Amino acid sequence: MLTLALSSVLAGLLALVVYQRVAYPFFWLDLMYYWKLRRYGKKLAARMQRGILTYLDCFLYQTLTYRDVDRRSSQFARAFRTEGSVKQGDIVALLMSNEPDFICVWLGLCKLGCEVAFLNVNIKARSLLHSVHSCGAAALVVGADLVRLVEDVLPDLKQDNMALWLVDHTAPSEHFTTLLDKVEHMSGETLRDRPKVDIMSNFLFIFTSGTTGLSKAARVGHLKAIVSMTFFQMCGATSDDIIYITLPLYHMSASLLGIGGCIHLGATCVLKKKFSASQFWTDCVKHNVTVVQYIGELCRYLCNHPTVPEERAHRVRLAAGSGLRSDVWKEFVKRFGKIQIREGYGLTEASVGFLNYTDEVGPIGRASYFNKLSMPFELLRYDPQTFEPVRTDSGRCIRAQIGEAGILVAPLTAMNQFLGYAGNQVQSEKKLLRDVFKAGDVYFNTGDLLLHDHRDFLHFRDRIGDTFRWKGENVSTTEVSEVFGLLDFIQEANIYGVTIPGYEGRAGMAAIVLKQDHTLNGTKLYNHLVETLPAYAWPWFLRIQTSLDVTETFKQQKGKLVQEGFNPDVTQDPLYFLDVSQKDYVLLTVRLYHDIVSGKIKL
Ligand SMILES: *[C@@H]1O[C@H](CO)[C@@H](O)[C@H](O)[C@H]1NC(C)=O
Ligand SMILES: *[C@@H]1O[C@H](CO)[C@@H](O)[C@H](O)[C@H]1NC(C)=O
Ligand SMILES: *[C@@H]1O[C@H](CO)[C@@H](O)[C@H](O)[C@H]1NC(C)=O
Ligand SMILES: *[C@@H]1O[C@H](CO)[C@@H](O)[C@H](O)[C@H]1NC(C)=O
Repeated sequence: MLTLALSSVLAGLLALVVYQRVAYPFFWLDLMYYWKLRRYGKKLAARMQRGILTYLDCFLYQTLTYRDVDRRSSQFARAFRTEGSVKQGDIVALLMSNEPDFICVWLGLCKLGCEVAFLNVNIKARSLLHSVHSCGAAALVVGADLVRLVEDVLPDLKQDNMALWLVDHTAPSEHFTTLLDKVEHMSGETLRDRPKVDIMSNFLFIFTSGTTGLSKAARVGHLKAIVSMTFFQMCGATSDDIIYITLPLYHMSASLLGIGGCIHLGATCVLKKKFSASQFWTDCVKHNVTVVQYIGELCRYLCNHPTVPEERAHRVRLAAGSGLRSDVWKEFVKRFGKIQIREGYGLTEASVGFLNYTDEVGPIGRASYFNKLSMPFELLRYDPQTFEPVRTDSGRCIRAQIGEAGILVAPLTAMNQFLGYAGNQVQSEKKLLRDVFKAGDVYFNTGDLLLHDHRDFLHFRDRIGDTFRWKGENVSTTEVSEVFGLLDFIQEANIYGVTIPGYEGRAGMAAIVLKQDHTLNGTKLYNHLVETLPAYAWPWFLRIQTSLDVTETFKQQKGKLVQEGFNPDVTQDPLYFLDVSQKDYVLLTVRLYHDIVSGKIKL
């Protein structure tokens, strides 16, 4: 009798397990991910009770292993305080390449209670001024290798009374205060009088959307920075890992997720000055690297690089990052060995983010019940012409259906703060959607199209709006069209991105209308671009039109242009291609088109 009862219970359980496997195959993974997040939330709360609140606290918490950085950052803090007028609450812009002192200066300024703004090191002089002004910086710290960039705009900076610090022993002129000569004489003792920080306040500024003139300084709150620190841990890294970071520190990925992730674990970080496909695996072998951080482009460069013996002799077990397409991923693991890939999705401005923690190729994350519990979000139906959310007659938005791409939006909550862009109320408001499902509610609009499939997986579809991605950077279309507008022969320009087989992101393309009685001067355009924009923002293609298409609301029409791309067979408009070797735009013939599409010509 007992055995019978027992076996029927067992059979029932077995049936349940089978049923769960079939109907909810990801139940346990979803639950585990949720628990991990919850556990971290609890740990955070416990830490807060003990007074370990800020980013700096999290770092100092690991001080035993990180003592040198701690001492050196204290030395920097003292140098800033002694030599100049840097004080609590000041915004300090940081223009430095990847190097350990980037982190020491950053943390040193944290110790003084400053807000640091990371500047993109590729920017040109005019954009540098714009960036420094837009975040309201009182001082600028420059790495020794970048001093020339600053010298170009020295008169303007001096006029603004900007304090200029140079991370070097000597300076090219008296306008800079050198740091390295002073740091050596400063004490590395803990600073006793560290200012109190409200963790709901702003911590950092990170520039997004076009690193060029019109970039926006996004505020990153303490809370968001601290939550970002869990990235590597959520991906499965531990304190024993040696983590290789090659991405630029001025972006959120390398700084908040990468360095922050190492600090959180207390792991070893191998920081590379600049990504190099030829040195990647050699470095991994040399430093016993076990975890690497990537963006999609990086993996593609590695796959395109000729074979090196180290690519299979390394100990890398985990690659964590974002933007990896499934074709490259397959090639990546086939070629470089058994590396677990953890693909995520995140934004600088808001806290909405996903992580792929299942073995499914393709999706960026899950949209299960548990995920929505820990981080609410919605996908909204949009108008394919304007990319604006569709509203009903009563003015409310509509949820996209399962299997239909929608705009990702997330409600603003205490955990999902959006602190906006510095000094740019208009742009900040533009990222918000109001009265979405009921009067008065507010959502952050990511501008990204995602698809929720019938198995609760989320797939990334596209980035819409005023930016597109190319070579791992955001290109701001308004910025590029402004630059075009400065030329005497161009009346109007509409900038957008087009896809090319075999490339991540989108290559820039400009539909332009020439001024009456003017012709295209490709050389002049090329020279102008070289002076004003970083290379990744230069449009590869031109399309000459007699007038620009606009929508009913007089917004530039991009949808159709994007679809038609740069194929000379689909349009009568003359097309041009940027030939960098000739420093000119050349007519795009059918033959040239095929050479580009087939990969014979590389962009
Ligand atoms: C890498 O690991 C090997 C074997 O465990 C060890 O001998 C070597 O010193 C390590 N190298 C570094 C740079 O840590
Ligand atoms: C690109 O833009 C998005 C949205 O504004 C931002 O969250 C992200 O950090 C940017 N990425 C880079 C590399 O600038
Ligand atoms: C998600 O992670 C799994 C397991 O590591 C991997 O097999 C899959 O390719 C990943 N998906 C993406 C899009 O990276
Ligand atoms: C194009 O502009 C350059 C100056 O940048 C000028 O030297 C050249 O003559 C122009 N070419 C034509 C065809 O107008």
